[in-house]
Amino acid sequence: MQHPVVLSCSMVDRPRWAAVAARLGLSLHDAATILPAGISYLLEAGAQGLCLRAALDAAQSPSATRVEFLDPALLYRLRTSGKRQGLGQALGLHKYPEPFVLDATAGLGRDALLMAHLGCRVLMLERSPLIHALLEDGLARAQLVTDEPLVQAAVARMQLQQAEAREWLLQVRLGEREQPDVIYLDPMFPPRNKSAKVKKDIALLQELLGAEEDFASLLQAARATARLRVVVKRPGSKGDVRLPPPSFTVPGKTAHFEIYVSSSASSMR
Ligand SMILES: C[S@@+](CC[C@H](N)C(=O)[O-])C[C@H]1O[C@@H](n2cnc3c(N)ncnc32)[C@H](O)[C@@H]1O
Repeated sequence: MQHPVVLSCSMVDRPRWAAVAARLGLSLHDAATILPAGISYLLEAGAQGLCLRAALDAAQSPSATRVEFLDPALLYRLRTSGKRQGLGQALGLHKYPEPFVLDATAGLGRDALLMAHLGCRVLMLERSPLIHALLEDGLARAQLVTDEPLVQAAVARMQLQQAEAREWLLQVRLGEREQPDVIYLDPMFPPRNKSAKVKKDIALLQELLGAEEDFASLLQAARATARLRVVVKRPGSKGDVRLPPPSFTVPGKTAHFEIYVSSSASSMR
C-alpha cells in the first residue's frame, strides 16, 4: 500500500475488527497505545463504526471521514430532491422512473443514497478496499435504522461490491453480470487548479487515492455497456474538450452532469 495504514481499535469488539483488518491486510493497533512511527492513516473502529483519518489528526477530531447516511446535510438533500431536478433529470427519471443504476465509482455513497431515494435500484462499485470498508460499515449501520423512513427505504434499494469498474463492465458485456440501465461516474478528476476548494473528506480521498488519470477509457467502457445512458458528474461548469461531447448537460451549483444517451435509447431525454 502506498500510504501505510493501520486499523486502530479498543478491546471492545476486537475479534470483529481483527477480522476486518485481516481482510484488508492491515495490522491491528490498540487504540490505547502510541501509534508506531511512519503511519499515514488510521482506520479507526469504535462504537460509531469505522472512520478514516490522517494519522497526525488529534484523536476524535471532526476531520474523520466516515460513511454516515443519517448525516443531517444528506437528509436535507434527500428531503429537497426531486425526480425532475438535477440528478433526477440527469438520470432521466421523468421517463424511466425506477432504473437499475450502476454507481461505478461509489466513494462515500452519498450520490448512491440520493439515487436510491429517487427510486433507483443502485449497485455501488468501489475499488479501494479502505473506502469499500467504510461504505460497507455505513450501509450496515444504516440498515439497522428504524426511525428514519427515508433512509430505510433508500438503503433497502442499495447493494455494494468491491470491484474495479472496468473489470465489472467487461463482465457485463460478456453476459456474466446484469446489464445496468444507467451507469453513473463520479471519479476523482484531477484538480482544475491548486486553489480549487474541495470538501474535507473528498480532499482526504484525493490525497489517499489520487485522481483518475485515464477517465477516457472508463467512459468508453461505460458507454459500451449501459442500456440507456451514462451520467458523468464533473466539478465546476466546464467539460473536457478531449472527450467525446455529451448528448446534453444538466447544470448544477458546484458540479454539472454530462449525459451520454445510448444510441438504442436516443429518444430518452
Ligand atoms: C469522488 S469519489 C465518489 C464520490 C461519490 N459520488 C459520493 O457521492 O460519495 C470517487 C470514488 O470512485 C472510486 N473509483 C475511481 N475509479 C474507480 C474505478 N475505475 N472502479 C471503481 N471505483 C473507482 C475511488 O476509489 C473513489 O472512492
